Amino acid sequence: MAGRAVVVGVGHYLPERVVPNSEFETTLDTSDEWIRTRSGIERRHFAAEGETTSDLAFNAAEAALKDAGLTAADIDAIILATSTADLTFPSAATMVQARLGMTNGFAFDVQAVCAGFVYALSNANALILSGQAKRVLVIGAETFSRIMDWTDRSTCVLFGDGAGAVILEGQEGAGTAQDRGILSTDLNSDGRYKDLLYVDGGVSTQSTGYLRMQGNQVFRHAVDKLAATAETALEKAGLSCDDVDWIVPHQANIRIIQGTARKMGLPMKNVVVTVQDHGNTSAASIPLALSVGKARGQIKQGDLIVTEAIGGGLAWGAVVLRW
Ligand code: UT7
Repeated sequence: MAGRAVVVGVGHYLPERVVPNSEFETTLDTSDEWIRTRSGIERRHFAAEGETTSDLAFNAAEAALKDAGLTAADIDAIILATSTADLTFPSAATMVQARLGMTNGFAFDVQAVCAGFVYALSNANALILSGQAKRVLVIGAETFSRIMDWTDRSTCVLFGDGAGAVILEGQEGAGTAQDRGILSTDLNSDGRYKDLLYVDGGVSTQSTGYLRMQGNQVFRHAVDKLAATAETALEKAGLSCDDVDWIVPHQANIRIIQGTARKMGLPMKNVVVTVQDHGNTSAASIPLALSVGKARGQIKQGDLIVTEAIGGGLAWGAVVLRW
């Protein structure tokens, strides 16, 4: 017998406003064709004025609770992965906690940029396996539209806003790779690469700043590191790429998604792809893809899933779980 952190609910929320690529053609030297062919993105959602990350996170959390048939009183802990919290402090997670009417347990944010949801899942798994929590609400939520430099065509066309959430519950498993739940995790970071993707402001520099990215350099690292972390996580679980039903990748660029799947020897029919509709929503992209993948009828109970992500830090990692 072994403890496992099993997904018992999933949900997502996207802000109402949908922005097609063509909207950027009026203000920037860019085209729908360039954005589509270089990134796979066709549209993205942007939060309304005054709509914050914790608003998006709260809506995704409610959807996940509904899907699980649970209420906030059933949750012990909230982990919210975000790089765009409403305020410097308190955490956006505590804001969600308050809006859910939850007065027990604890809540905190995790900041690992685009790898944030993978880091949050790994932390939630550790809390459950160590007996510190029974049910953890794990959210990825971002408003990257707030840190876009709208004059920089190489970044502002790529990102979007949104939120996704899962509820993990501690259950007994047989201790084999056939168990439902998180089977392994693999986290990595290498701070030597901080200049490849960062925001040029922050509390200590007394500004909000804008996202800066050497896209082609990040791209160079992405496919190799993502395939390697996914394969390492699978190995830790005693599994291989042949066992995978779904890759649910971070949705940054269709070419990175295709390259990683190719390197893992898996066809695109085994990959959940949402980048065309959401753009890169950073820490929100994986839970959004899990929720959309389930709603589309792609992800079914018992399926073996590997999620993988890379972003600023560089920070990257993978989680293997059986749905
Ligand atoms: O989620 C966090 C991790 N982030 C990522 O994974 C992003 C990784 N990188 C990428 O997705 C790609 O590198 C990009 C989509 C950002 C760019 O694609 P690329 O094939 O690497 O293009 P590039 O940066 O090498 O730029 C090619 C050309 C440049 O022009 P020159 O120098 O060749 O004349 C750019 O100035 O494309 C130009 N360009 C654009 N042209 C039209 C850059 N942005 C645009 C644009 N519209 N929006």
